[in-house]
Amino acid sequence: MTIQPNDRPLLEWTGDSLAIGLFEDAVELTGELATLDQKFAGVLKELIAEEEFKGKANSTIFTRVSGNTPLRKLIVVGLGKPEALKIDTLRRAAAAVARVAKKQKSKILGLSFPLWNNDPEASAQAIAEGVELALYQDVRFKSEPEDKAPQIETVELLGFAGQEAAINRAHQIVSGVILARQLVAAPANAVTPITLAETAQTIANEHGLQLQILEREDCEKLGMGAFLGVAQASDLPPKFIHLTYKPEGTPKKKLAIIGKGLTFDSGGLNIKGAGSGIETMKIDMGGAAATLGAAKAIAQLKPDSEVHFISAATENMISGRAMHPGDVLTASNGKTIEVNNTDAEGRLTLADALVYADKLGLDAIVDLATLTGANVIALGDDIAGLYTPDDAVASQLEKAAQTSGEKIWRMPMEEKYFEGLKSGIADMKNTGPRPGGAITAALFLKEFVKETPWAHLDIAGPVWTDKENGYNGSGATGYGVRTLVNWVLNAGE
Ligand code: BES
Ligand code: MN
Ligand code: ZN
Repeated sequence: MTIQPNDRPLLEWTGDSLAIGLFEDAVELTGELATLDQKFAGVLKELIAEEEFKGKANSTIFTRVSGNTPLRKLIVVGLGKPEALKIDTLRRAAAAVARVAKKQKSKILGLSFPLWNNDPEASAQAIAEGVELALYQDVRFKSEPEDKAPQIETVELLGFAGQEAAINRAHQIVSGVILARQLVAAPANAVTPITLAETAQTIANEHGLQLQILEREDCEKLGMGAFLGVAQASDLPPKFIHLTYKPEGTPKKKLAIIGKGLTFDSGGLNIKGAGSGIETMKIDMGGAAATLGAAKAIAQLKPDSEVHFISAATENMISGRAMHPGDVLTASNGKTIEVNNTDAEGRLTLADALVYADKLGLDAIVDLATLTGANVIALGDDIAGLYTPDDAVASQLEKAAQTSGEKIWRMPMEEKYFEGLKSGIADMKNTGPRPGGAITAALFLKEFVKETPWAHLDIAGPVWTDKENGYNGSGATGYGVRTLVNWVLNAGE
């Protein structure tokens, strides 16, 4: 599929499906749209009336066009109230149109959308992202594709002549989102710590990044007892992945992105029971997937900041070598941890990754992790929790998320709750009481960052969606990639 920006007039456009975005106050067609309606004998007005179309955001209607014209379908998508138009409204509307057009077997789709904020660049990018994200289908694990409908070949963005660069940028970002979706969607027998390391190697080779993989012995030398404690029951080797993007010239900022990389979380000896969702725990490397997806996108976008992409990848398994509940581990900063629950393993792996990143002398660290069920209870399936003591990093991430359309919400770092992690035998326990469980998880992580401004995103909810949702199909969402990319791109400002 190619996405082409051009200035072909609506009234002269030829192709098989034409889609129009309409605000709530514009369903009484005027101007060019009234002329278009007349050209097709009033079919648009009729459609809007019959369907009682009000222009509500994301509502779509379509009709067959008859007569002597190559145009087969007219599609109308609602954009809501003009004053409420967000950049993500365009992204979602484009996704909705792309889905309808695909179902209607369109090959050449024309899109006529208004601008967000008088900004053709940002608008074109968001529309292109919406189209590409919505049309992606994962058929890797089917012996035969179920969907045999023809693919859309060309999407024309009318009124966006000259926006090739924005569309290209969208494509580069989407390539990162799709990589993240593929990694998360693949089962634990297909994506292992070894696969994650190989994926990092592929990104490094294709896009010229530096890569360092620390093997178990290397991690032992660095004293990464928390990470290795989690890894010790798995038959697969742990991989500590460190990819680096360096811009030409002096970097404006030096940043790290760290992702939780549990390719399967059985819970360990505190094994996940019936109803715990153990069969879905392939998603527990969603942070690592977003990290690698961001690396792939950033390597192509070439921002002027240096970025380190890090994941301590392993499985959390059971065997005769498994951690016992109650074991005491020593992390690479010397702190001791009583593992009162082997299922709180993500924070153990992140602890050593954070200590490692903290020593790199960076301006900021962001970690992403499918860390707690408690965060899902607090914020639901669509919103990531943002935990940070640093107001500046918080607002950078909130801004980046706003642009990307990914929802985040800042949560409190209530220091008093650290009391719940006090241990009689070690410096701290890895698990506190159930109430506020996502907050104590973040407070635990904070113990392993001393020098660097840091934020943690708990993405346990949005990493996955059971049903089609906006530009996400059902399944892995690739959550985080677009926010991370925006965060890095804005960091130089
Ligand atoms: N990977 C899970 C968290 C999770 C839960 C992710 C649901 C996605 C969906 C994490 O390792 C875990 O098991 N957390 C425990 C922590 C508890 C033992 C303190 C949880 O949330 O129940
Ligand atoms: Mn767990
Ligand atoms: Zn986990």
